[in-house]
Amino acid sequence: MKKLYGFILLLVLALVLAACSSDSSGDSGDSDSGESESAGKKVEIFSWWTGAGEEDGLLALIDLFEEKHPDIEIENAAVAGGAGTNAKAVLATRMQGDDPPSTFQVHGGDELNEGWVAADKMEPLNDFYEENGWMDKFPEELIDLVSKDGNIYSVPVDIHRGNVIFYNMKVFEENGIEVPTTFDEFFAAADKLKEAGVTPLALGDKEAWTATQIFENVLLGVLGPDDYKKLFEGEIGFDDERVKEAAEKFGKMLDYINEDHASRNWQDSAQLVANGEAAMLNMGDWAKGYFSNDLELETNKDFGYFEFPATDGSFAIITDTFGLPKGIENPDDVKEFLKVLGSVEGQDAFNPLKGSIPARVDADKSKYDEYGQETMEDFKGARLVPSLAHGSAASEGFLTKANQAVNIFVTQRDVDTFIKALQNAAPEM
Ligand code: GAL
Repeated sequence: MKKLYGFILLLVLALVLAACSSDSSGDSGDSDSGESESAGKKVEIFSWWTGAGEEDGLLALIDLFEEKHPDIEIENAAVAGGAGTNAKAVLATRMQGDDPPSTFQVHGGDELNEGWVAADKMEPLNDFYEENGWMDKFPEELIDLVSKDGNIYSVPVDIHRGNVIFYNMKVFEENGIEVPTTFDEFFAAADKLKEAGVTPLALGDKEAWTATQIFENVLLGVLGPDDYKKLFEGEIGFDDERVKEAAEKFGKMLDYINEDHASRNWQDSAQLVANGEAAMLNMGDWAKGYFSNDLELETNKDFGYFEFPATDGSFAIITDTFGLPKGIENPDDVKEFLKVLGSVEGQDAFNPLKGSIPARVDADKSKYDEYGQETMEDFKGARLVPSLAHGSAASEGFLTKANQAVNIFVTQRDVDTFIKALQNAAPEM
């Protein structure tokens, strides 16, 4: 009898298990179709805005979107690493495998136009701009940065400035330092600070782009905006005497950085300025977002800012934009997201937190602090130049090589080798 019970029990168990497994396969079938239904309603936003000083703006934008579209699910697919150090590689793999995110962060300029547009991976958005009445809501030069052959391919959410130096006001005051406007004044101030035992210039080049950004600003200072552009358009060679002069000046600046630069990222280097161990930081104004939101420092009280030496009147522009990749399942939902991102409300939710100024010309100035308002004014009259470190001035291939060359230069300081490496990479520009 016991045996019979045992047998029945086993049989029941087996049946239950079989039912479960067929159920689960049935389920997965169901959930597959469920997923594709919800896939029609899910928008995956791919960026590198994670963590301190980076994600606040994005989260505010997502909140705003969710308020307006509770029916559309958002997936925040951010990959950590400043300037897209890791995200760009993940994106490339996905794009090559025909698995694009619904929309992704991409810089206006070569990164978009000579990258994803040239590879035929993006949908044109001209009609979308017209429908939304956006043609005169973004500065013409900005629309040019996201256009190729007369077609517009993305929507700018922000305008960051790259040729800014942020400084610790107390450290400047205690050491009697005036804001430097020329390279000579910068070096004189740096000497004074060094003597006083303060690191003059903070650097965190664990990711090489931060040093490349300094170099590009030196190039801008030495060449001026017109010839800076010509350099990246291939009309001036890297063997130009002034490029050599820029490399020498860049090398001299590196005499004033913190010793542990190679183990810090940009946020870690900004902390040195925040806590007064270092005096100055050349960083795009996402550092402003970090100072204000994360470190709770006050603009023009705890930290001040000035244009990178000799670059007054130029604006090294870095614009983060989002477009519509070809082959995604739910372009209409994604367009709803782009609509919010390109709206006054969206831009004014994002930019005051990010440290950037709005890409739109009609945003609400009162939402921005002194830094933002001054930068909006500067932008209007400035000569715009594309950033190398942030993918606008040259191809991704050239940038990778330039980052390597800069990284080697930071430790070896061999000007000739540096120039040679840039020259060798130039055909890829
Ligand atoms: C830039 C980007 C900024 C900021 C920065 C640091 O490339 O345009 O929005 O995120 O990298 O990661």
